[in-house]
Amino acid sequence: MADSRIIAVVNEKGGVGKTTTVVNLAAALTQWDKKVLIVDVDPQFNATRNLGIAVEEGQPTTYELITAKKPLNPAKAVCETPWSGLFIIPASSDLAGAEVELVNEIARENRLKRLKPLADEYDFIFVDAPPSLSLLTVNVFAFANEVLIPCQTQPHAYAALDDLLETLDLVREEINPELNLLGVLPTFYDPRTRVSRAVMDSLSQDQRFVGKVFPTPIRTNTTIAESAMHQKPVVFFARSSFGAMDYNSLAQHILGQI
Ligand SMILES: Nc1ncnc2c1ncn2[C@@H]1O[C@H](COP(=O)(O)OP(=O)(O)O)[C@@H](O)[C@H]1O
Ligand SMILES: [Mg+2]
Repeated sequence: MADSRIIAVVNEKGGVGKTTTVVNLAAALTQWDKKVLIVDVDPQFNATRNLGIAVEEGQPTTYELITAKKPLNPAKAVCETPWSGLFIIPASSDLAGAEVELVNEIARENRLKRLKPLADEYDFIFVDAPPSLSLLTVNVFAFANEVLIPCQTQPHAYAALDDLLETLDLVREEINPELNLLGVLPTFYDPRTRVSRAVMDSLSQDQRFVGKVFPTPIRTNTTIAESAMHQKPVVFFARSSFGAMDYNSLAQHILGQI
């Protein structure tokens, strides 16, 4: 298998749909026979939780992978999920302590790159980043080759993209020149509201994002939250929901099928 596409899902704001996009886009892609790995790099470990993964005693997580003095075999941290083709390296609350532990380490922004040997095993690796510009997020930027930015269709969410784009420029200059913007994904889209439509217009007219706004917005859909509560990706929990349809369309778009 060729090298995986390593896609970081980032936004310094919380609650914009990062974790939801990681879990559901990853799950959607398995329906096209893709082998997909999720890497949970958020100390809140919502991706791990949303898939119902309980970390057993002795199971290495993202925390052990990035803090171990001697690199572990990253394959040992991969957990199966109940869904064929979908795998996860889980996180736990320990991850919150990783920053402090790494403070005095050399090349501390390169720890997540220890996962690179996994890249020829999967078609896609999705990385769920925390909602902050922390050392963990910098590790995510160093490891990934593409960035997907969920943006709520809310006025302030659009304005907040300025900082994120500046951060991306800096990351390219200093850490990872190969990092591509895959696209901006409008989330919590509600075509009935003027605000949602206005933000969609702003995004599509923004010169910085020509050809980079996904034509497949994710609508606001309570079934998405419900599926997380049931610890199942919405594409399997309720196949005919708006949430499932939207994430399936996004998957097809990323596969170049629409
Ligand atoms: N399109 C959507 N419609 C309705 N609820 C959503 C949608 N996307 C996400 N949610 C819910 O909103 C909350 C925040 O989403 P989440 O993906 O966890 O954001 P983030 O990872 O950016 O903090 C979660 O409770 C999630 O279930
Ligand atoms: Mg999250």
